[in-house]
Amino acid sequence: MNAPTDIDYARYDHIRPILWTGDALQLLDQRKLPFVVEHVACSSSDEVASAIHALTVRGAPAIGIAAAWGVVLAARTVQADDGAQALQKLEPALQRLNASRPTAVNLAWALARMRRTLAVAGADWQQVLETEAEAIATEDLAANRHMGALGAGLIEAGSGVLTHCNTGSLATAGFGTALGVIRAGMAQDRIARVFAGETRPWLQGARLTVWELQQDGIDATLIADSAASHLMKTGAVQWVIVGADRICANGDTANKIGTYQLAIAARHHGVKFMVVAPSSTVDMDTADGSQIEIEQRDPGELFGVGGSRTVAEGIAAWNPVFDVTPGELIDAIVTERGVILAPTVASMKAAFGD
Ligand code: MRU
Repeated sequence: MNAPTDIDYARYDHIRPILWTGDALQLLDQRKLPFVVEHVACSSSDEVASAIHALTVRGAPAIGIAAAWGVVLAARTVQADDGAQALQKLEPALQRLNASRPTAVNLAWALARMRRTLAVAGADWQQVLETEAEAIATEDLAANRHMGALGAGLIEAGSGVLTHCNTGSLATAGFGTALGVIRAGMAQDRIARVFAGETRPWLQGARLTVWELQQDGIDATLIADSAASHLMKTGAVQWVIVGADRICANGDTANKIGTYQLAIAARHHGVKFMVVAPSSTVDMDTADGSQIEIEQRDPGELFGVGGSRTVAEGIAAWNPVFDVTPGELIDAIVTERGVILAPTVASMKAAFGD
């Protein structure tokens, strides 16, 4: 994979959400951003699992990377002659990591990769695990840079874009998926306007995305999620660009709640819809979106803003935090393996096999 040469990564990519210190995992606490920039140290795999569940670290690729480092931490508690023996002892910790969030397939993908590596490792299995976790992170960053160039290539100069949730450096090893395309599109002067939806209820757009872009000197305009259709009607955006938590064999894509309604509104207004995700987000074992487990979180997330309650006591709330956009509403899926236009079962199979 060749990274594009016309992007100054030092300018466009400042933040790292996951730092391995050699004996602990430092996670940039995304619950506290943007006003408190603080790291949480995890020194056990169960601490990593809790951090993933609590959204201290979040975003599909980032939780896969964090889980891989969680396996490295779990390995520190186990004595074994080789990887196969270690795998048996580590399986309960792997399962607890896997259970920390259900929708993003990158978590299960990273753990499966760590399992496969461990199964064939010899006496140096602990070092092998560490090298593998590092490789998962390094490959993610390279994939993001490559996708940035591929996705930006689809955007005509002077375009406006709307993004949802946070898909940037904070959600990945760096640079980001959808936000990587936006960074590359800005660097290449293709994108003239960036809009970001707040992303209720957890406010990934309002708290994370616009702050992250501000670090790069990219002006983004925040909108209420409910302003998206109206924005499209004005003609200010030509592309909606989002990330993904799981892309099925037919192109159906799970992403942050609210993505589906953006895709419907985009099709209605003639706005193009792009999904950007590494191949670790593609799940060819899941035939279509109806089979994806949608995470339900505490309804309490809907009862207030910034810790202040805004809803009367005794109100019920429903809080699914992902939805599924049907493949037929997607104009382009961009992975590091290439661009799939108007995904179908056949084009997904051609790119990713069975
Ligand atoms: O609940 P979150 O914040 O983990 O949800 C994140 C998203 O839905 C992102 O769009 C997705 O994981 C892609 S991140 C590159």
